[in-house]
Amino acid sequence: MAPPSTVDEPNGTTLLTNIGELITNDPSQAAGHAPAADRLLGIRRDAAIVLADSTVAWIGDATAPPAADLAIDCHGATVLPGFVDSHSHVIFDGDRADEFAARMAGQPYAAGGIRTTVAATRAAGEDRLRANAGKLVGEFTRSGITTFEIKSGYGLTTPTECTSLQVAGEFTSETTYLGAHVVPEEYADDRSGYLDLVTGDMLAACAPHARWIDVFCDRGAFDEAESMQVLLAGRGAGLTARVHANQLQHGPGVRLAVELGAASADHCTHLSESDITALADSATAPEPTVATLLPGAEFATRSAYPDARRLFAAGALVALATDCNPGTSFTTSMPFCIAVAVRDMHFTVAQAVAAATVGGARALRRDDVGRLTVGGPADLIALDAPSYLHLAYRPGVDLIGGVWRAGRRVR
Ligand code: NIG
Ligand code: FE
Repeated sequence: MAPPSTVDEPNGTTLLTNIGELITNDPSQAAGHAPAADRLLGIRRDAAIVLADSTVAWIGDATAPPAADLAIDCHGATVLPGFVDSHSHVIFDGDRADEFAARMAGQPYAAGGIRTTVAATRAAGEDRLRANAGKLVGEFTRSGITTFEIKSGYGLTTPTECTSLQVAGEFTSETTYLGAHVVPEEYADDRSGYLDLVTGDMLAACAPHARWIDVFCDRGAFDEAESMQVLLAGRGAGLTARVHANQLQHGPGVRLAVELGAASADHCTHLSESDITALADSATAPEPTVATLLPGAEFATRSAYPDARRLFAAGALVALATDCNPGTSFTTSMPFCIAVAVRDMHFTVAQAVAAATVGGARALRRDDVGRLTVGGPADLIALDAPSYLHLAYRPGVDLIGGVWRAGRRVR
């Protein structure tokens, strides 16, 4: 893969040719007799792709590509859609490396650790939050993530939640209001007062800056009735639900997410058979709930991993996301998440790559990103590898040879 001449090439047409494996996530691109994994990923072999301005203009055989302003020879390497990270918390200040080290020495994770980051975030100021987020977004880009969601949730006052969402909105349109992350210290004796704030004045101030509303429905955070109250208030303000569900224990989160038509139930570390059935039934509903697995969180909290085979066997929709946050998953690397998902959650490599691209897109109810189709956005990755399998086969190795977002080379 040729290095970029600049990371901000002028608009024009770019041809990537001699692609060994072009992953499109469009099953019609795979040969009829192709193996199941090729059909799942819509793999076209010995392919070429042309980007024109911000979109994909042409996909075809490397033997007969059209002319372009810039031609890049991929020498048999793999090209795939940019990763779609549907779950991140990159608006914060402070560091919890000591908490991580203590966990690795045997301490359990508890939701209360969030309050450490809340204190640092409240003290930080907008410029510092913007700078911190910008650095992590840069890391997203270098890991091949071209679409990402960002949550608030480390301010937990009306002005700090509002600022968090405004800063998030400078980086992405996929912004999520998470005032219901935990009850902050000053409301420890007045939970209902905090819920009134989260569903009242704070929601009114934040809703114009958010597309989604989320709640941490789990031990040490919010119970079923409280979570329901938060999500219904959010819906009333025009936001669509997503839920932090079943991370720390079996609980009502997944069921609630499905009942309310949430776009995703995230974590899904502890799943009952009825949770899996509910997720699978929702897969064909008009408003499906995507089971979003977050391998970085189990990794960094040394928790048991959920077995994705149960979800796939039942027919649930599945996404993978980084959950980038300072407490439980301080990674911006989707290739790392893919490798862990394959090794420890029993995804096939093809399932993991699909979950990190088109799965993430579904979890954000987007049908434009996460796939490569003519007329669709030119968001793609060129791997320094002959096969997508290397994303899991070569863990910890930076295989990202090039990244294009809306047709512009950003790495
Ligand atoms: O998704 N589970 C809740 N929220 C974050 C953790 C936040 C923290 O510990 O700071 C998560 O893992
Ligand atoms: Fe999270």
